Amino acid sequence: MRKRGLLFLAACVMAAGVLAGCSSNREAAGSTTQEAETTTEAETTTESETTTEAEMTAEAKATAEAESESESSPAAAEETSSEEASAEEGNAEEEVSAEGAEGKTLVVYFSATGNTERVAGVIAEATGGDLFELEPADPYTDEDLNYNDDNSRVSQEHADESLRDVELVSATVEGFDEYETVFVGYPVWWGIAAWPVNTFIEANDFTGKTVIPFCTSSSSGLGESGELLAELAGTGDWQEGMRFRSSVSEEDVTAWVESLGL
Ligand SMILES: Cc1cc2nc3c(=O)[nH]c(=O)nc-3n(C[C@H](O)[C@H](O)[C@H](O)COP(=O)(O)O)c2cc1C
Repeated sequence: MRKRGLLFLAACVMAAGVLAGCSSNREAAGSTTQEAETTTEAETTTESETTTEAEMTAEAKATAEAESESESSPAAAEETSSEEASAEEGNAEEEVSAEGAEGKTLVVYFSATGNTERVAGVIAEATGGDLFELEPADPYTDEDLNYNDDNSRVSQEHADESLRDVELVSATVEGFDEYETVFVGYPVWWGIAAWPVNTFIEANDFTGKTVIPFCTSSSSGLGESGELLAELAGTGDWQEGMRFRSSVSEEDVTAWVESLGL
């Protein structure tokens, strides 16, 4: 009986030994799996990060290259500056040809009471032309201009054509040859151009110039006033011209000038 008890105890010790060995193996196997999983994860992360970094580097490089090409590459800079230069050249050419086509403009006028003077100013402004006032050496006073008085200066001049040669302070304009276009302005007196203008017309050569008459009046139209001046001049390419009412607006005068297409 005592011998059987010893055998049982020995068997138990052996069984416990076997069980302990199995458990430690299982633990070791678990740790290997975890290690393997960690390695794979680490490798994957590193790989993906490396890829992204590589892609970003390539992208940054491409961007940098593109920027450097457009900004600092001598060829690109040359291209840009030559493009800018040719655009500037184009504008300069346009300006020159526009100026050349228009030439210089002169606005000559006689005005007894200021209406024609105002219109002349608007024309000069709109054309960028020079103004020149025809001033009688003996200026007209209000009494002189009273056409209701048969004895007034204008009435006498109207009645006797020989009295219409009105001397001007100056009948010639400095650099007249340089003007390509000449506007000639006057008030209408008894249906024709106020005669102080005649002295200027007779004193100048309009050859090669475009001449554009304009006038102001209370109610009369341009009539034959422009044609009579053209006859008196004998030279120049005279245009039909325009009559404005005495109180014409600046806008209407400007619109007319623009319609001429100078
Ligand atoms: C002597 C004289 C004659 C005029 N004859 C006419 C005329 O025949 N028809 C007309 O519509 N206006 C006539 N007027 C009015 C002027 O033509 C008009 O007031 C004009 O705008 C005046 O221009 P000014 O201010 O530049 O002198 C006459 C004015 C004067 C002083």
